[in-house]
Amino acid sequence: MRLDIVTIFPEYLEPLNVSLVGKARARGQLDVRVHDLRAWTHDRHNTVDDTPYGGGPGMVMKPDPWGEALDSVIASGEGDTRPTLVVPTPSGRPFTQALAVELSECPWLLFTPARYEGIDRRVIEEYGERLDIHEVSIGDYVLAGGEAAVLVITEAVARLLPGVLGNAESHRDDSFAPGRMADLVEGPVYTKPPEWRGRGIPDVLVSGHHGRIARWRRDEAIRRTALNRPDLMERCDPEVFDGRDREL
Ligand code: ADE
Repeated sequence: MRLDIVTIFPEYLEPLNVSLVGKARARGQLDVRVHDLRAWTHDRHNTVDDTPYGGGPGMVMKPDPWGEALDSVIASGEGDTRPTLVVPTPSGRPFTQALAVELSECPWLLFTPARYEGIDRRVIEEYGERLDIHEVSIGDYVLAGGEAAVLVITEAVARLLPGVLGNAESHRDDSFAPGRMADLVEGPVYTKPPEWRGRGIPDVLVSGHHGRIARWRRDEAIRRTALNRPDLMERCDPEVFDGRDREL
């Protein structure tokens, strides 16, 4: 997969050299290219923002540098391949595991993290007509810029790429994963030692009884979902639980 990120803070994306994403890059599974938006400015101050039409606080990112930057990145594709545009914004669709799966199936993603009050809307309209586009919010809070959102989205997408996680099974029981644990968060996990500061582990986990372990995990996932995510619990269909029970 190829990822292009256009930003005024290229150094903000340095964590993409580390850990899972960094290793995927080193193995050639991810081709990450970070671009400085200011490279497409032509004035002495490398201006990327201006005051908003209609007044109000803050500044808006100018369309000209973004247009040149996006044209240049798009033109660098092989043949007539086109990137999928991912625009991080608090006004976007909520980022979910389902969207991470959808993005992981795209061969090429182009991210446009904005600073200030956002990018002039005409840029989104213009490229929305030429490219598949997702305006994505990583949560109901406002960051100082979209770069942290790019790191979040990239990590969630990269770990879904074939061969990036060591064990392909590790996705299956992810919180929010489609299938068995759909719409539930994961329950608690334990490792050695069997006793720590006087605290043991649930007996069922060392029972060797796979059916009972699976059922315990399912029950714990439901318990935690009810506690921490009543919003998810409300959407749960008791029929789905009963179906899972029959499977176990
Ligand atoms: N930029 C600022 N806040 C954001 C958010 N919550 N999600 C995505 N991009 C953002």
